[in-house]
Amino acid sequence: MKFALPSAVNAAAALLLSLSAIPIHSLPINPASSVALEKHTIEGLNNYNCKLTPVHPRPVILLHGATLTVYSWSTFAPELIKRGYCVFGLTYGKNKKIPGFGGLTPVEDSAREIGAFADEVMRKMNVSQVDIVGHSQGGILTRYWIKYLDGAGKVYRHIGIAPIHHGTTLNGIATLTTALGLFYPFRSVYEPLIPSLSQLLANSTFMQTLNAGGDTSPGVIESNIATKYEDIITPWKSCFQHGPGVINAALQDLCTLSLDEHLDILHSKVALQFVLNQLDPSTAKTASCLSLL
Ligand SMILES: *[C@@H]1O[C@H](CO)[C@@H](O)[C@H](O)[C@H]1NC(C)=O
Ligand SMILES: *[C@@H]1O[C@H](CO)[C@@H](O)[C@H](O)[C@H]1NC(C)=O
Repeated sequence: MKFALPSAVNAAAALLLSLSAIPIHSLPINPASSVALEKHTIEGLNNYNCKLTPVHPRPVILLHGATLTVYSWSTFAPELIKRGYCVFGLTYGKNKKIPGFGGLTPVEDSAREIGAFADEVMRKMNVSQVDIVGHSQGGILTRYWIKYLDGAGKVYRHIGIAPIHHGTTLNGIATLTTALGLFYPFRSVYEPLIPSLSQLLANSTFMQTLNAGGDTSPGVIESNIATKYEDIITPWKSCFQHGPGVINAALQDLCTLSLDEHLDILHSKVALQFVLNQLDPSTAKTASCLSLL
C-alpha cells in the first residue's frame, strides 16, 4: 500500500505528459472532426445580438460529447447560422489536468454546467425555452438537467446525434480511450482523469439513474439520428430512445451509402438535413443520399 499512491501519481503524470505531447493530427481519428486543441472560432456562434424571428423563435444550443469541444460543431453550426438560427455553444466539462479538451468532468457536473449556460442564453435572449442539439454525451446531459436539476419546461425540442442514451459497452470506451492515446484497459489510469467515461458504460449507476422511469422527457419533442457504423457507442441502437412520440432514425436507412461513424456523423450532410428537418418541420426536405450533394 505504501507505494500505491506514488505509482498512481506517476502513471497519471506520464499520461499527462504523453497527452500534452500528442499533436492533434496524430490522433488516429478523422482530422476533419476537429476535436480539440484547435484555436479556430465558429463565426456567428454565441451572438447575443442575433434576432429571433417567428420562423426561428428559439435559440439553438449545441452540446458536444465526452473528451470533445465546441469545435465539434464546425460543420453544423455555420449551416444553422446561415439559415437564420441563433446558435449557441460552449466547451463544457473542462478539467485543468487535460487542457484543451472538454466533456471530462462527472456527467452530473456537466449537466449542471450546460443548464446554467442554457439559463444564461434564455435570460440574455429573453425567452423561456431553447432547442438543443447534442452529440454523444451531449445528447443526454439535457435529459439529466430536465429530470434531476432545474431544466423542466425549458426545452422545446431535443435532437440527439449519436446520443449515448443507453450507455456503451467497454468496447466503445476502449475505442475512445485508444483514439485519445489513453492506455486502455487501465481503467485506474483514465478514471481519475475522465470520470465521465465509466459513467457512460451501459448499466452504470449513472445510466440506471438517467433512464429510471423512462427514456423520454415529457413535454419535449425528441428525435435521434444514429449510425450503424458506430464505433464508440456499442451496440449502436443504444443511441435510440424508447417512448411515445420519439423519432429514431438510422443514417443508413436514409442513405445506404453513408459510411460515417461516431465522429464523422458531425460532418454528414444527411445528418445535417435530419437536424434541419427536426428543428423546422415546416421546411423539411427528404434526408437522403441527395442531401450529400
Ligand atoms: C421580453 O419578452 C417579453 C415578452 O415575452 C416582452 O414583453 C419584453 O418587452 C421583452 N424584454 C426585452 C428587454 O426585450
Ligand atoms: C445490462 O443489463 C441488462 C439487464 O440486466 C443485460 O441484459 C445487459 O446484458 C447488460 N448490458 C451490459 C453491457 O452489461
